Amino acid sequence: MIDKIKNRSYKKLQFIGAVFICAVILNCSGIKIETLYENAVISTASPIATEIGLQVLKDGGNAYDAAVVIGFTLAVVHPEAGNIGGGGFALIRDGKSLEVRSIDFRETAPKAAFETMYLDSDSNVIENLSTVGAKAVGVPGTVAGLYALWENNGTMQWSDLVTIAAEIADSGFIVDAYLESSFINKRTELTQFETTARIFYPGNQAPKENDLCQQKQLAKALYLIAAEGKDGFYLGEVADSIVATMVAHGGLITLADLQDYQPVWRDPVHFKFDSLDIYSMAPPSSGGVIVGQILKLLEPYDFSRYNPNSPKYINLFSEASKLAFADRSKHLGDPSFYDVPMERLLDKDYLDGRREQIELENAQTADAISPGGMMQVESDETTHFSIADKDGNLISITYTLNSPYGSKLAVKGFGFLLNNEMDDFSVKPGEQNLYGLIGGEANKIEPNKRMLSSMSPTIILKENEPFLVLGTPGGSKIITVVAQAILSLTRFDLNVVETAALGRFHHQWIPDLLYLEDGKFSPETISELQSYGYQVKERERYSDLQIIYIDPSHFKTGASDPRGRGLTAGY
Ligand code: DON
Repeated sequence: MIDKIKNRSYKKLQFIGAVFICAVILNCSGIKIETLYENAVISTASPIATEIGLQVLKDGGNAYDAAVVIGFTLAVVHPEAGNIGGGGFALIRDGKSLEVRSIDFRETAPKAAFETMYLDSDSNVIENLSTVGAKAVGVPGTVAGLYALWENNGTMQWSDLVTIAAEIADSGFIVDAYLESSFINKRTELTQFETTARIFYPGNQAPKENDLCQQKQLAKALYLIAAEGKDGFYLGEVADSIVATMVAHGGLITLADLQDYQPVWRDPVHFKFDSLDIYSMAPPSSGGVIVGQILKLLEPYDFSRYNPNSPKYINLFSEASKLAFADRSKHLGDPSFYDVPMERLLDKDYLDGRREQIELENAQTADAISPGGMMQVESDETTHFSIADKDGNLISITYTLNSPYGSKLAVKGFGFLLNNEMDDFSVKPGEQNLYGLIGGEANKIEPNKRMLSSMSPTIILKENEPFLVLGTPGGSKIITVVAQAILSLTRFDLNVVETAALGRFHHQWIPDLLYLEDGKFSPETISELQSYGYQVKERERYSDLQIIYIDPSHFKTGASDPRGRGLTAGY
């Protein structure tokens, strides 16, 4: 199977997806096409990962098995963000118990971490220390997270699932144009560490489109994980090598940090929006609470008066976002270290009061909004995948190395990249951080603490039945992309394909800028928004939404963001 898959082009993979079409719906314009699948659908950022996940489902596996194989395969074929050296969050709706639960497999600060670890003796932030190299690395959670998912309800052998990914790393996969250009763009950053240069620039030359990319060292790590479960990563040779890499480059992670790492099962954030039950990630991700605040602030407005590109809607959404992001800066952090006022943040009376600050055609300035404090800017690489299987299991996973290729540092001998997630902490609470922004006390660095995230893997039920599974990368923009997608699917009645393609806009309170996706908004819209008082900044495209929609008769469809190279397919 692997040989067949790795040699297929994107177009061929799309065709294979189409073979399993059960129904095709055309709207009256004949433009929208939604493919409905009877059994299962998967949406990931990589055609290879989607097809391998689908094959596992067809071979009798369930969504848990598919999630494991996809998680490890993305670490091979989507190295910018797919990972074993990072962490993330999974939302799960179990088809048998009908419960919605979540696993937090976020990275943790090493035991030796301390609040001022990125500051010099004058208390200035040391450039790049929290983003590049060994000190930027949080204790990875991905392998433990995927293992917990599999232990919970996987049906296939763990070793068989992980071996599929190991074999792709071993025998190689065909590089696409997207990855070729990523290797070209990141050359300087990725060649600064010999261990990383060796993987992606063998003989000083990155693989080009249609070349085979083999990762023999990564394969070794994956075979060990396949054979020994999570211990293959957190104990033994791989763990020793992570620690040796830390020692060589001045990092803090020890064997005890690795050995003690535990994923945490958590109750997801749950709130009602219209008649929907929305479940998303709880702290240490801010995603669920902030998506919830934005939607609840907007709930009473009559959306039939707007369209998703209209200045009035963009204004309402952005004003709600500013209020929610202001709360993020102050009230959200790892709940084991900081008492997050969860109930209050989503309380009706509280949000009714906050809503009074929103005006229909006016942008409040950032200083008119409290509380003070800011969030960090996160950069542009993470990945999300969504799975719905024939047994009613839904899985929504966002995981990441943080910025593209994480800390850029690969583990010696095992060829996998380590995250730079420590930068998601407030590197200097209360004052400007590396990016010129500030964070709060709630998210200061402490040993064993999990840094605040914006990742928002989301599952939505309608009348207790599966309805939507979605998520995206995008740093702080994850939150606004997910909230906009929910509104576009439920209030503007766009389908999944249109929702995935829709222009994005983003305001996070500070900086006091309204970001509009380049080329997606008309000059008239931009000048009307400016007349409301917004400082508008166009920015290149972002997001890589992976959405699944399930209709009342359980037919499924989905869409992968056209900005990425992903594929949605089913059978
Ligand atoms: O946890 C977070 O919020 C960030 N580390 C996510 C980074 C991200 O989404 C970058 N990708 N686009």
